[in-house]
Amino acid sequence: MEIPSSVDMWLESAAASFGTPSYVYFMPLIENRVSQLRRAFGRRFALSFAAKSNPNPAILAFMKDHVEYLDVSSIGELRSAVSAGWQPLRISFTGPGKRDAEIREAVEVGIGELILESVREAVLADKFAAELGRVQRVLIRVAPTSVPKGFGDQMAGRPSAFGIDWEDSPRDIRVIAALKNLHVVGIHIYSGTQCLKPDALCENYRGFLTIFREIYAGTLPKPEKLVLGSGLGIPYHDQDVPLDLEAVASGISAEIDSFCSLPQFAGTQLVLELGRYLVGEAGYFLTKIVSIKTSRGTKIGICDGGMNNHLPASGHFGMVMHRNYRMHKVSAGARPGDVETVNLVGPLCTSIDKLAVGVALPSLEEGDVIAINNSGAYGLTASPIHFISHAPPREILVEASGIRDVTFISDLPVTARPADQ
Ligand SMILES: Cc1ncc(COP(=O)(O)O)c(C=O)c1O
Repeated sequence: MEIPSSVDMWLESAAASFGTPSYVYFMPLIENRVSQLRRAFGRRFALSFAAKSNPNPAILAFMKDHVEYLDVSSIGELRSAVSAGWQPLRISFTGPGKRDAEIREAVEVGIGELILESVREAVLADKFAAELGRVQRVLIRVAPTSVPKGFGDQMAGRPSAFGIDWEDSPRDIRVIAALKNLHVVGIHIYSGTQCLKPDALCENYRGFLTIFREIYAGTLPKPEKLVLGSGLGIPYHDQDVPLDLEAVASGISAEIDSFCSLPQFAGTQLVLELGRYLVGEAGYFLTKIVSIKTSRGTKIGICDGGMNNHLPASGHFGMVMHRNYRMHKVSAGARPGDVETVNLVGPLCTSIDKLAVGVALPSLEEGDVIAINNSGAYGLTASPIHFISHAPPREILVEASGIRDVTFISDLPVTARPADQ
């Protein structure tokens, strides 16, 4: 795969200055993504960044100035967001297992909206709002009966922990709407993600619009906000065809416009909630080859960071069968034809610590640095970094003004620095 040489130059510099293993995030690439979304959808959608995809405080702070809203999924994420400068009013809180104390704290700090995933959460939120003398804004999360084919991860269309099943929603919405200390601002649907097919994405959004229309054909007052889980995917593997965002926009824009022209939705804000599509392709994971071994005819590169640092690349984060992430040798300097097939593993004493099986890369030596692409989302914080107590990877930001270390997880006994290597 072609890697822009400027990206590789920065990766090389990050590895030399800050060491490996490390994550490197390119802010200009995130900015490009925001612009592409704004260009494709015009003013139809506000954007909400899902903090779970990358909660590094520097990324949260950056997003504050680039998207309208932030969605958090734990009280920890809410606290990080507020420390990063987000006003609570611009934050929503999803998650199917919110604890009592989390709901109370969220109401207390003045969160913009609680996304209610059950009547239980609604009753608790109502109680805490009453105790605090507040009326809490809420959205009700609804789980549709089906998700089109083509979504890598589905959160509805089957028994699911997420939200209120569409079949139960008439009863449950009535119960929630009657709670005196809650103000139902709208509906939230996030039914699936990692979809690269424009037709499937449009069909999914169409289903959301139908649900919104049916809910607001009843007695509920007009919604202020309706949240659509974007489902937009990124091409993790060489065989993946990158998403054609223009095709998604042209496939759904007319229907969105006619939806917004209905009297019950005049003035309603539509929000696209997403994580990986904003930050996934802007991040790379750097790992260095510590040792090379040829075992029974197979060349194996043993790296300084593996599944402990990057669980998804090892195939243990929802992949049914391991497929190699897109990756490349940093500043390969390869001669034409100088390509070989290798397996890459991490440093852990377990056979499941694999980063690549049979990947074609320029000839590798000990000390070479490999960059795993598509690592800006669900990388570091989706990984078991405490397993076997290796130093956690550093996190490096590349922005217009230069490059800086933004590592925020450093609670393990050892901290990796170039001098240690
Ligand atoms: C409620 C909710 N919002 C947003 C996201 C972000 O998804 P993605 O990063 O795939 O866009 C998820 C992913 O699981 C989610 O569950």
